[in-house]
Amino acid sequence: MIDAYFNDILKDINATIANYIKGDVKELYEASYYLFQAGGKRLRPLMLVASSDLVGGERRRAILAGSAVEVLHTFTLIHDDIMDQDTLRRGMPTVHVKYGVPMAILAGDLLHAKAFQILNDALSGMESNLITKAFRIFTDAILVISEGQALDMQFEDRKSISEGEYLDMINRKTAKLFSASTALGALIGKATDNVVKKLEDFGLLLGISFQIVDDILGLTANEEELGKPLYSDIREGKKTILVIKALEMASEEEKRIILQNLGNRNASKEELKQTADIIKKYSLNYAYELADKYYKQALDKLDSIEWKNELAGKALKYIAEFTVKRRK
Ligand code: IPE
Ligand code: IPE
Ligand code: MG
Ligand code: MG
Repeated sequence: MIDAYFNDILKDINATIANYIKGDVKELYEASYYLFQAGGKRLRPLMLVASSDLVGGERRRAILAGSAVEVLHTFTLIHDDIMDQDTLRRGMPTVHVKYGVPMAILAGDLLHAKAFQILNDALSGMESNLITKAFRIFTDAILVISEGQALDMQFEDRKSISEGEYLDMINRKTAKLFSASTALGALIGKATDNVVKKLEDFGLLLGISFQIVDDILGLTANEEELGKPLYSDIREGKKTILVIKALEMASEEEKRIILQNLGNRNASKEELKQTADIIKKYSLNYAYELADKYYKQALDKLDSIEWKNELAGKALKYIAEFTVKRRK
């Protein structure tokens, strides 16, 4: 039943995106549309639509708003892969590898603007106060993601990052878009301010858990299944919770190996793997427990809301569970 629920939404989201991302400057639109065809989990639009359904919202508007969020997400992925110098995304060469950095920057810019166009259509004819709130949520999310991405890069050059600083950074770069998705779903579904806030909190808590698991998978997953390069966080010197914990717990010799390879673009795959093995030994349990803590807090939020649609509530729970148990 949940499968049919998700498939129904996905079909409409994908058709909507295909309908909007087209134009006559062939290479630009090809580069912009490329990642949608490559795959992707569509978690944010699914959460937006399920949040709207949960409060009894209009499906047509939620599909448009969900498409806007996925288009925005895709823009951040294209630019993120340039920043992180990654070559694989959704199992395919990244946009800048395939089309070159200048065209990839433009594709990101185009999707950024398209996202606003689609959101505008989602809100057409709604009460002006609600439209203002929706655009504020959307623009706030973009600003905060940029801040998070900047912190993520700045941390590469710093030796020691606290768990608090890490959590603040992932709140901004990742969790904010999850919370914007659930809040927009609730808002467009005309939920009360109180319910919008609770769904926003649910999205934020789940988003934190999601990024912790993303950082875990970056060292533990099967590269083919993940569709992204393993160990690139180590090569780029990312201060993930796993690195933070390992630097706290490892022996002096192990710490030396970690610091030698962290941020070393010339490190071989073997050196990266050896470093990853040390890091995992000290941090994997801790990171999973932390992800679990936020997942449980997210569930508590969801349970504190009155569900107007049982299937939508179950779908959100399913996504939450998937977030911590996934392998990709
Ligand atoms: C990747 O997000 C970027 C992060 C915030 C970690 P997803 O893992 O949701 O990527 P897709 O959309 O499924 O490819
Ligand atoms: C995810 O950043 C956040 C955004 C894309 C805004 P990461 O760099 O951690 O995500 P992946 O692992 O490349 O998907
Ligand atoms: Mg990245
Ligand atoms: Mg990044």
